[in-house]
Amino acid sequence: MEKPTDKTVHGFATDAAMYLRSKIVEAAVESNAPVEIPEIAIVLGSGLGSLVDKVENKLTIPFSDVPHMRMTTQRLHAGNFVIGKLGGKQVIVLQGRLHLYEGYSSRIVVFPVFILHMLGVKTLILTNASGGINLTYSVGDIVAVSDHINFMGVNPLRGDIEMGRKALFPDMTDTYTPRLRELACEQAKACGIDLHEGVYIGVAGPSLETPAEIRAFRVLGADLVGMSTVLEAIAARDCKMDILALSLVTNMAAGVLDEPISGEEIVATAKRRATDLGNLIEGIVANV
Ligand code: HPA
Repeated sequence: MEKPTDKTVHGFATDAAMYLRSKIVEAAVESNAPVEIPEIAIVLGSGLGSLVDKVENKLTIPFSDVPHMRMTTQRLHAGNFVIGKLGGKQVIVLQGRLHLYEGYSSRIVVFPVFILHMLGVKTLILTNASGGINLTYSVGDIVAVSDHINFMGVNPLRGDIEMGRKALFPDMTDTYTPRLRELACEQAKACGIDLHEGVYIGVAGPSLETPAEIRAFRVLGADLVGMSTVLEAIAARDCKMDILALSLVTNMAAGVLDEPISGEEIVATAKRRATDLGNLIEGIVANV
């Protein structure tokens, strides 16, 4: 099957969405249930894939089955679309995502967002693992992203407007929907989670940052650093989706502590906090 290139990605998203829709209809007919196309999507970051365990009546579709969709090459990401019920709502969960550091272009990285848009998704919940820059944060904290700094060196909407961009200069004010951030705060209280708010700076990776970069990012106003989310949020904003991003501080950023950053720590923290994050997301979805 032909894979999308930077130029054609938006058109191919329609084929991919049609495929997902047909699978959802097929599964509903087979189980004599009403056809429900999800309007809420959740993208699961590194080590957070277990959240799909909370989804009921699951229909799992591997990325590799979906026309034109690229596979994740990151071993912490399963690479599935999972459709089912969470918090009483029909949702589509991306168990894994595509990253710039895998060598994909920014357009390919946001291809799943375009698919979700074509499918009819209106609310996008992005999750990620991040390094804590803000010195008041601790490892294991959950942070609602209030804004971002795109330090990835690319923009997924760059190119010919005919290729699918909606606005000439898409507005990025209130990219992270204030109403959803308020809802996240309310639900965090209900779950007994101390939720922070902060600015996420997106970097290309895959190398982690130097301590000097982290000091510079702090001066720029960043509270968190990570290698995802920003490009997806830019694409989703142009598609007029409501966006919430929840970041799990899996480690303090380079130089904050007098020790190297361990990949094992990142994975272990994500696994340890996945249940709390899952409960929070379930509460948010139930009340969207
Ligand atoms: N830097 C960038 N990305 C990350 C980090 C980090 O420290 N931790 C988890 N993802």
